Amino acid sequence: MYKKIFTATLIMYSLLGTNSIAQTKPDVIKIGVILPLTGAFSTTGRQSEAGMRLYMAQHGNKIAGKEIELVIKDDGSVADASRRIAQEMVTQDKVAVLAGFGITPAALAAAPIATRSKTPMVVTAAATSSITEASPFVVRTGFTLPQVTTGIAAWAPKNGIKTAVSLVADYGPGGDAEKFFKQIFESNGGKVISQLRAPVRNPDYAPFLQRVREDKPDAVFVFLPAGQGAIFMKQFTERGLDKAGIRLIATGDVTDDELLNGMGDAVLGVITSHHYSVAHPSALNQKFVKSFESANPGLRPNFMAVGAYDGMHLIYNAVEKTKGAVGPELLEAMKGQAFESPRGMIKIDPKTRDVVQDVYIRRAERVASMNNEIYNVELSSIPAVADPGKTQK
Ligand code: DHB
Repeated sequence: MYKKIFTATLIMYSLLGTNSIAQTKPDVIKIGVILPLTGAFSTTGRQSEAGMRLYMAQHGNKIAGKEIELVIKDDGSVADASRRIAQEMVTQDKVAVLAGFGITPAALAAAPIATRSKTPMVVTAAATSSITEASPFVVRTGFTLPQVTTGIAAWAPKNGIKTAVSLVADYGPGGDAEKFFKQIFESNGGKVISQLRAPVRNPDYAPFLQRVREDKPDAVFVFLPAGQGAIFMKQFTERGLDKAGIRLIATGDVTDDELLNGMGDAVLGVITSHHYSVAHPSALNQKFVKSFESANPGLRPNFMAVGAYDGMHLIYNAVEKTKGAVGPELLEAMKGQAFESPRGMIKIDPKTRDVVQDVYIRRAERVASMNNEIYNVELSSIPAVADPGKTQK
């Protein structure tokens, strides 16, 4: 009789195969990290993994009596793979948290799995506004495109830029950037002359830059995903746009810290708005950058590393708060968390589950005190910006 019950229970457990069952080992909390470690967005994967590993190296792998174990898998920058891996992670690996997600299609593909399995999903990189609405289990520690676009869109008309062309990568975050740039730029007295969209993969910007030249705006506003800024800057200079009197303004994705110094003098003076710069002058950031660079020689951290580092911070805080409980309880413990990040203070809005943070206006400059390398030097900040995409559809 006991044997029968025991067998039935075992069968039931193996059929359920979700997080409603305890972890494989009760004292281990697994975090299933899905990242583009290869493929078109591999810089994001590498930065994010390094950020997570650094957090763990600094804070250990024990929290609330539990051992934290990272299970990292490469989706090859392909969303179908992100979906398949997320499914395997919740059913086979029995992860308590899904984390990472380098691009919007990857996050959107995994979100229904988070919902069905009641697994908190910490999006550290992908930045289309609507991702947090794709599942009530999504919490974001990175940023949103509306959040970082509105700063530069409002700055430009106040700084002599009256006409602009927008040029964005043709997918979710590009659509957000295009829409919010026009809305805020025009409500501050500017005029968007044309809106251009470049392919996301293997882009050739030459035809778009030619079009910008013909339109002769005061500035071109650009959003491209992390990792593409250097190719864009090269083509921008080759086409002579820097000499044609057309200013370049962008979100900080384009002057990505990993690639910025290699862009050379053409990038000097480019104004961007973004939530993180390696040159952010806080003590915490200086320590973060130093530790990151000693763990990853030759690699400067960028905003993807910081989103991932803070993602681990959020998970650690939440596990501590629930004393190791997972599932919906862990999700609740993530809502409303506030702590200092290398970028400044951040908070998870308990209603939207999205990150609230300062956004900085920055200028690309050579910094004499930092080896004369090029940095995004912060000029001013806009405090505690919530995602504008949540209130304005
Ligand atoms: C996304 C990816 C990026 O690399 C970036 O800089 C911004 C947004 C995305 O796919 O959501």
